[in-house]
Amino acid sequence: KRPDFVQLKEVGPRDGLQNEKQFITTDDKVAWIDMLSNTGVTEIEYSSFVNPKWIPALADAKEVGKRIKRNPAVVYSALVPNIRGLENALEAGIDGASVFMSASETHNVKNINKSITETYPVLKQVIDEAKKEKKKVTGYVSTVFECPYEGKITPTQVMQVCDQLITSGVNDISLGDTIGSAVPSQVELLLDEILKRFPKEKIIMHFHDTRGMAIANIMTALNYGITRFDTSIGGLGGCPYAPGAAGNVATNDVLYLLHGLGISTGIQDKKVQEASIFIQNKLGKKLPSRSLAYVEGT
Ligand code: HMG
Ligand code: MG
Repeated sequence: KRPDFVQLKEVGPRDGLQNEKQFITTDDKVAWIDMLSNTGVTEIEYSSFVNPKWIPALADAKEVGKRIKRNPAVVYSALVPNIRGLENALEAGIDGASVFMSASETHNVKNINKSITETYPVLKQVIDEAKKEKKKVTGYVSTVFECPYEGKITPTQVMQVCDQLITSGVNDISLGDTIGSAVPSQVELLLDEILKRFPKEKIIMHFHDTRGMAIANIMTALNYGITRFDTSIGGLGGCPYAPGAAGNVATNDVLYLLHGLGISTGIQDKKVQEASIFIQNKLGKKLPSRSLAYVEGT
């Protein structure tokens, strides 16, 4: 049965901006995140505490974290690859840490410079320390359907990584279609396996919309009872270490789908459109969201 309520995590300020060549100033990021904080969304991934040489677009993560106005109804999380990142994130202020790795060996190395086996102890240390500080921890698993270097990834490979992350103590898992290549039958195959092992409340789906399949895939996941999705305002986004990875599925388009289906989100469409127009003007280019194109002033 499809859920009545769905929770979206806004990843625009992190996944959305990490691949943009144009640096959005700290002032603009802060103003934009403050707008997002008032849309009704309950979680915002506001930046990444990674090596700024790897992701220059988010080099001001600490400053951003210190300056945003915190809405007590919003969980503010950020990407954290290691203890160094966690220390910075705690200084800047986070409610949640998102650790990340890949189901594909090659993508894992390209993205975080370690083999899968070498990654587990690094993440375990982050998870343990974050939990000591009473922070929620999400584990991202990338390339759950396909890797740009290795090709198809099997549900068994994904399950192994999920098992390790859950054993290491993450609260939930976000499954990433990093290059946006999956079709609904692949989503079904993966969820058939995943939901045998983990309760659906622990599973978040993270679709990139490279080939326009994200909405169909979300519909499929909804029919499996999945209630949590990562989305990005306007459809901004992409992983710089995954060639061909386009933006995340647009928050605007997912809201159009959900609200049209009568599923509530607590998010106000109009405020999302305003925040989309703000960042679209700053970037000086049309954002990929389809439904945004029909909003006046875009
Ligand atoms: P490394 O080079 O192996 O790290 O990078 P290292 O520990 O050997 O240290 C090398 C240098 O990095 C040192 O500086 C460290 O201090 C510095 P130096 O002495 O050379 O001046 N360093 C750091 N600086 C700041 N913050 C840190 C940090 N850690 C080390 N936290 C590392 C390893 C993981 C840091 C690097 O590979 C990295 O930053 N990767 C980031 C990759 C990334 O952000 N990718 C995009 C996000 S993932 C994604 O988009 C997928 C997702 O959306 C889901 C999906 O779509 O599938 C989540
Ligand atoms: Mg992503």
